[in-house]
Amino acid sequence: MNKKTIRDVDVNGKKCLVRVDFNVPISGGIITDLNRITGALPTINYLKEHGAKVILCSHLGRPKGKFNYDYSLKPVADELTKYYGSSFKFASDVIGEDAIAKVAALKDGEILLLENLRFHGEEEKNDKDFCKALSVFCDIYVNDAFGTAHRAHASTAGIVQYGFAPIAVAGFLIEKELEIIGGALENPTRPFVAILGGAKVSDKIGIINNLLDKVDTLVIGGAMAYTFNAAKGLKVGSSLCEKDKIALAGELMEKATKLGKALLLPVDNVIADAFANDANRKIVEGDIPDGWQGLDIGPKTIAQFSDVVLNAKTVIWNGPMGVFEMPNFATGTEAIAKALSQAKGNTIVGGGDSASAIKNLGYADKVTHISTGGGAALEFLEGLPLPGIVCLNDK
Ligand code: 3PG
Repeated sequence: MNKKTIRDVDVNGKKCLVRVDFNVPISGGIITDLNRITGALPTINYLKEHGAKVILCSHLGRPKGKFNYDYSLKPVADELTKYYGSSFKFASDVIGEDAIAKVAALKDGEILLLENLRFHGEEEKNDKDFCKALSVFCDIYVNDAFGTAHRAHASTAGIVQYGFAPIAVAGFLIEKELEIIGGALENPTRPFVAILGGAKVSDKIGIINNLLDKVDTLVIGGAMAYTFNAAKGLKVGSSLCEKDKIALAGELMEKATKLGKALLLPVDNVIADAFANDANRKIVEGDIPDGWQGLDIGPKTIAQFSDVVLNAKTVIWNGPMGVFEMPNFATGTEAIAKALSQAKGNTIVGGGDSASAIKNLGYADKVTHISTGGGAALEFLEGLPLPGIVCLNDK
């Protein structure tokens, strides 16, 4: 990585304002996925052990610029208290009296978490005065919020862009995400396979375009495959199909052919007569009849896609293969997750639904890397510059 990290600066005795992404799923006050918290621990631990005053800041959800208890970071604070005990503190505001007093009292090696940044509308507006107010807590700015690195907000980019943080470095989570995902994109061990799923071609055009230049095989499942199959002239019944993207899907297939890349689409599908778990269902190859819709990939496709995954040396997976929230249409997604867990190559799972599937199936420790980025991972795979990374000091 060409950006400085916390290893490159002397943090001892310094106030380190660390932007983390603790935008974690919380249900009934319980955090249901700790990936983003455990992902930030190496950076927090390093700073603590090297005598920094660690001031953590994050958003949680979209509270629209107002205090809202439902979006408080208190559950995250409770979790961090389990790891750090009395050396961990929580401020009840972001730039207010409590935060200022607690930062002033913070000793070297102690950790403070500020309340949800988005309780201030100025955070998302990248407001200069808000950046200045935050910078009071910042001798050194550390960005470790990979999941939010695609946002040009006050705490992710503005504080550096406005010149309030002359020292701006990456934490270990960002370093790891860039090395693993960036490394796979730039210098993959081959064969390099990407498996993309999800509903819409329109959401993934940029990624497909970028990945076609890099992979050996691009595998497309999920509802977006129906738009591609429509472009091949197949009937798709009442499956989700973006009619205005059929021509584009055709162009992407032509691009693959010109580049000599394999672009694999489902050869069979599990179809249903309604969008419901208990709908009548059957397996068809080729055309999908009128009145029926494809909701999952079929067994021949599962065998073919799994084989490609198992023989790859590098795999990136993003997006489910079917409507995996419905148990009767989860088989394809589960099978791909299983194939990744058994593959010997470097296996990388983008954030979002595919990450949830891998974790829920108990395969989290059987893949090389599960990204903490949802939208950020997608933009990174698309090859877009991420403002939260671009702004950091170069090596
Ligand atoms: C995410 O969960 O993708 C990040 O935390 C960013 O959240 P946002 O989409 O609300 O900006």
